[in-house]
Amino acid sequence: MPQLTEQADKVTSTQQDFLPIHGTDHVEFYVGNAKQSAYFYRASMGFTLVAYRGPETGTRDRASYVLQQNKIRFVLTTPLQPSGEIADHVYHHGDGVKSIALWVDDAQSAWEETTARGAQSVREPFTIKDENGTARLSSIALYGDTIHTFVERADYRGPFLPGFIETPGPDRIARPAGLMHIDHMVGNVGWGQMNTWVEFYERVMGFRMFKHFDDQDISTEYSALMSKVMTNGNERIRFPINEPAVGRKKSQIEEYLDYYGSPGVQHIAMATHDIIESVTVLRDQGVEFLSIPTTYYEDLTARVGRIDEPIDELARLGILVDRDDEGYMLQIFTKPVEDRPTLFYEIIQRKGSRSFGKGNFKALFEAIEREQARRGNL
Ligand code: FE2
Repeated sequence: MPQLTEQADKVTSTQQDFLPIHGTDHVEFYVGNAKQSAYFYRASMGFTLVAYRGPETGTRDRASYVLQQNKIRFVLTTPLQPSGEIADHVYHHGDGVKSIALWVDDAQSAWEETTARGAQSVREPFTIKDENGTARLSSIALYGDTIHTFVERADYRGPFLPGFIETPGPDRIARPAGLMHIDHMVGNVGWGQMNTWVEFYERVMGFRMFKHFDDQDISTEYSALMSKVMTNGNERIRFPINEPAVGRKKSQIEEYLDYYGSPGVQHIAMATHDIIESVTVLRDQGVEFLSIPTTYYEDLTARVGRIDEPIDELARLGILVDRDDEGYMLQIFTKPVEDRPTLFYEIIQRKGSRSFGKGNFKALFEAIEREQARRGNL
């Protein structure tokens, strides 16, 4: 009965395809001082300034800097007045991710399909234009004050979006670090909220669960968390969702929620083709990473088998390794990049593995807890 099977497949793929996503379009941060934050991302993290919008371009209430490194695009936005949505966000959360923008073919349909399935609208579809063409955007609410923005840009040829100007000349501050694309972005949500957001991604966005860890997987002597990874149809988008679990002391998720003041984005993982080179460059440029005890490397070969990279190099840089049945992966985590212990970054290189470093959680969380204890928050 091959015909019947084919028809069933088609129905399934149509059902899953109500929200086709090409990838992450950009991530917009609300920050206290975008001009100075942009220096950190350029001189330390390897991004290049590509576009700008502010009073000089006719925008009166905010200034935004667009930074790019290969396929990764960050927008840093700061308020120019003491009141309003951006100023409120910075007051309550400190610097943090406001919008995870997704690249779609049809921002109208993305908004209609998701709001029809229960998403709360933040902004109805709208069109913006300049001499470089037209773009269409819409937004829906996510956890905390975070939103998803749908970006339709097939008819736009400018440096970023209408209203932004290309920055003149080469960026003399940018020092590229070989970061290629966003691998995954992790959200921290409150006690008992993980399944609510898992269901949101399933029902509203048409995502499915990628991997599942429970608190037995992710616990140390003191604290624990639970995490589920959601992915879209083409698996280009991966959003792990964490919630705290009961432990003897305060978990890193609770510390985040206390300081961010609500659920929000915990870390962004950026992929590289050469993690040793990228981390060497980032360390030279002043990026601070979590330190890993040398004992981690003593039994590394026994745990993960043979790998291409010299173990002494990995130990010197503090890079972690994990293996699953498809291959292995290398990863490292920065310290929080704000004074509040909130958002941090992961640098990741995949060599076959599609997982998230479950074998490293214990070593990693013990490193995070040492930092928490130094802040008096454990
Ligand atoms: Fe991660």
